Amino acid sequence: MPNNAQPPTQDTPHDQFANKAQAWSARFSEPVSDLVKRYTASVRFDRRLAHCDIQGSLAHAEMLAAVGVIEAGDLAAIERGMARIRQEVDDDKFQWSLDLEDVHLNIEKRLVELIGDAGKRLHTGRSRNDQVATDMRLWVRGEIDTCGSLLRELRHNLAKLALVHAATILPGFTHLQVAQPVTFGHHLLAYAEMFGRDAERFTDCRRRVNWLPLGAAALAGTSYPIDRERVAKTLGFEGVCRNSLDAVSDRDFAIEFCACAALTMVHISRLSEELVLWSNPRMGFIELADRFCTGSSIMPQKKNPDVPELARGKTGRVNGHLVALLTLMKGQPLAYNKDNQEDKEGLFDAADTLRDTLTIFSDMMGGIHVRADAMRAAALQGFATATDLADYLVRKGTPFRDAHETVALAVRSCEERGRDLADLSLDELRAFHPAIDADVYEVLTLEGSVAARKHIGGTAPARVRLEAERILAERG
Ligand code: ARG
Repeated sequence: MPNNAQPPTQDTPHDQFANKAQAWSARFSEPVSDLVKRYTASVRFDRRLAHCDIQGSLAHAEMLAAVGVIEAGDLAAIERGMARIRQEVDDDKFQWSLDLEDVHLNIEKRLVELIGDAGKRLHTGRSRNDQVATDMRLWVRGEIDTCGSLLRELRHNLAKLALVHAATILPGFTHLQVAQPVTFGHHLLAYAEMFGRDAERFTDCRRRVNWLPLGAAALAGTSYPIDRERVAKTLGFEGVCRNSLDAVSDRDFAIEFCACAALTMVHISRLSEELVLWSNPRMGFIELADRFCTGSSIMPQKKNPDVPELARGKTGRVNGHLVALLTLMKGQPLAYNKDNQEDKEGLFDAADTLRDTLTIFSDMMGGIHVRADAMRAAALQGFATATDLADYLVRKGTPFRDAHETVALAVRSCEERGRDLADLSLDELRAFHPAIDADVYEVLTLEGSVAARKHIGGTAPARVRLEAERILAERG
C-alpha cells in the first residue's frame, strides 16, 4: 500500500507484525486500552530521532552484510527503503502511528511494507534497547556540536563589543553597592570567560557521549558474529561501550548534557539579570534593541526587557530537566527499564531552550545601545576610587590598614558635606594625611583608577583590548 494511501489517524489498525497490532503482541491475549497505549507510547516525541534511527540502522545493516548475517541483496533493499523513508519523514509525509509505539517500530514497519522480508531481517542481533541508546547518543552528539558553535559565536560577539567599550567606565559592584570603577569591556569579557568554559564543558561531555551501545542487544549481547568496531567507525563513534548491561541502561551522557545546558543557562540568567538592571531607567546604562522588548497594553511609557526576563525564567526549567533526569536514574536496577523512555522530553526541551536562547543572545548582545555617559555618571558617585586613594598612601609609605582608616574618615566627612573625594582641594585632602601631594588627582580619576589595573585579568583598557583580541583570534 503506498504510504499516502494510509488514513492519517493515529488509530489505524496495523497487521504487519504477526498480524497483530503490536510487534510483540503475539504473546498477549488481550489488547491494551487506548489510554494505556497513549501512556506507554513515545512516538509523539521520539519521532524527532528518526534521522538518527535510520543512520544507526543503516550502519547495523551494513555490518550484518559484511559479516554474512544478511545477504548483500537484503542490504541493498534496506538502503533503498531507508532512503525512501527518510524522504517521507523530511517531506512530512510519513504516517506516524501510535499503535506502533515508538520511532523504531514505526520505521521498521514501514520498511517491511516497502521492501518485504529484507526489512524483517534488519532487527537481527539488535534490540530496541541498544537501538534507542544509540539513537540518543547520536542525537546528543549533534546537539553538543550545535551548542558548541553557538557558544563560540556568543563569546566572539561579546569580545567584539568589549573591544568597542574597552575604555568605557561604569561602577563595578560588590553586594550590588558601588565598589570600584571597571571598564564595560572587562565586564563583558567576564561573560565571555563563562561561555568559553561552557563550550569546553560540552566538548568534554562529547568525549563520553561518543561511544557505541549497539551490539549490547537487549542487555546481554548477541550470539551473532557481529563486528561492533565496524559499526562504531561507520557512525563516527570513538569506540564501543565495553559492557552490554551498562550500554543499554546508561544515561549519564544525557545527564551530563543537561548539566552543561543548565550551567550555561545559569550564566545566561546572570547576564539577563544585569541586562534588566542596566536597562532600568534609574541606571539607564544600556538600551536593548526594540525587537527584544515589548510594551505594556496599559502603561504607554513601558519598554519591557522580555527576552532577558524569559531567559532568566527558562533557566529554571532547564535546571528542572537536569534534576528530573538524575531522579529518573536513581532507583533503576540494571539493565534497561521502561523508565528510560522518560529521558527524552526533558532532554529535548533542554536542548531546544538552550539552542534558541544562545541564538537570540548572540544577536541581542551585538545590538545593545550603550549609554557611556550614564555609566560614567554612576561611577563618579559612591566613592569608587577610595581604594585607589588608600593604595596611593601605601605607595607613600603608609601601612595599608592605616591608609584604609584615613580614607574611610575622608569618605565619611565627604558624605556629611555632600562632596566627592576628587572635588576636594589639595589642602582639604592634606588635612586627612600629610603625605598627600598634587599627584593624588591622577589616582582619584576614574581613568587613572582603571588604567592602573593593567596586569593579566585586570580591568585596564589596554588589557581588555589584548584579551578581546585574543578571543577574537580564536576563530581564525
Ligand atoms: N521507546 C523506548 C525508549 O524510549 C525504546 C526501547 C523500548 N524497549 C523495550 N524493551 N520496551 O526507551
